[in-house]
Amino acid sequence: MATDISSIKITKTANSRLNEVDFENIPFGKVFSDHMFTMDYVNGEWSNFEIKPFQDLHFSPAMSSLHYGQSIFEGMKAYRKGENIYTFRAKDNFDRLNKSANRMCMPNIPNELVMDALEQLLKIDEKWIPDNDSNSLYIRPFMFATDEYVGIRPSETYKFIIFGCPVGSYYTEPLKVKIESHFTRAANGGVGEAKAAGNYAASLYPAKLAKEEGYHQLLWTDSKEHKYIEESGTMNVMFVIDGKLITPDLSGTILPGITRKSVLEIVKSWGIEVEERKIEVTEILEAMENGKLEEAFGAGTAATIAQIHTIGHEGKNYVLPEIADRKISNKVLNFLNRIKRGQEEDKWGWIKSF
Ligand code: COI
Repeated sequence: MATDISSIKITKTANSRLNEVDFENIPFGKVFSDHMFTMDYVNGEWSNFEIKPFQDLHFSPAMSSLHYGQSIFEGMKAYRKGENIYTFRAKDNFDRLNKSANRMCMPNIPNELVMDALEQLLKIDEKWIPDNDSNSLYIRPFMFATDEYVGIRPSETYKFIIFGCPVGSYYTEPLKVKIESHFTRAANGGVGEAKAAGNYAASLYPAKLAKEEGYHQLLWTDSKEHKYIEESGTMNVMFVIDGKLITPDLSGTILPGITRKSVLEIVKSWGIEVEERKIEVTEILEAMENGKLEEAFGAGTAATIAQIHTIGHEGKNYVLPEIADRKISNKVLNFLNRIKRGQEEDKWGWIKSF
């Protein structure tokens, strides 16, 4: 299998859309940069490595991913400070994509080639990477089954694509979330820890009901008893109680977030106690009632650090402490913003600049 960057065919657009974009007002996920990377899995190997203008795809109505959901994705970001482009833990995202691929019976991607392709793509589209402290280029790598076949079996062919969107905040205000005690995002032994498209589809209806009640998002609970907090669908969730950062452990039903693990490592390095463990809903309710819940926030690539200002449970809403008073999450957000743009010492080796 070809694995070096010279095997990538590059076709640049003659009609850049860059001038059409208002970089001061970018809605999340609706504006796409000029180019994309694509490759195909055929006859047991990846081939057709191409960077080409962002464009529509043409497929058979019988394409198997449309029917049976063999479709996985990742989310990462590129940042710019002057002439320098930075990626943050991109290798971890591609490693996680391969874990999702294993669970969904899909082939692994050649990580080194894909990392090279990503860098090449980012250099070509570098003007699409916003150069300011709050915006970035959201990068969407994804893979889906392309067999033209309506029987149920793992596809024999796949497409992998990376494209980018300049973005600002995913959430533009602090969140009001509802603890879900009826619907389930993921069950033990299911695909909850894979970044599988279907996990997001399954969350839409319960999230819609919660939105009708005035919530932005759900806090999912375990499928068996709805007794333990899991994650928030678009992000992992963290709490500060008695000065300790606590977050649900990676039980197999939640996404192993890259932002999640970064926050834990950063906060530990500051000497703050961290607990990854099962968190009972009642523990959070009691902490809110006793005024002991100091902070609650989501952690994700798109969401970054998303402050939660209200938590609802069975009709009762609990308003949390002022965002400005939240020492740990504000400090970690600031630190992450700086490290991602080469402004903090990267003692973990998370950043790649080129
Ligand atoms: C990400 O944070 O990258 C995600 O995939 C979540 C989605 C809400 C965009």
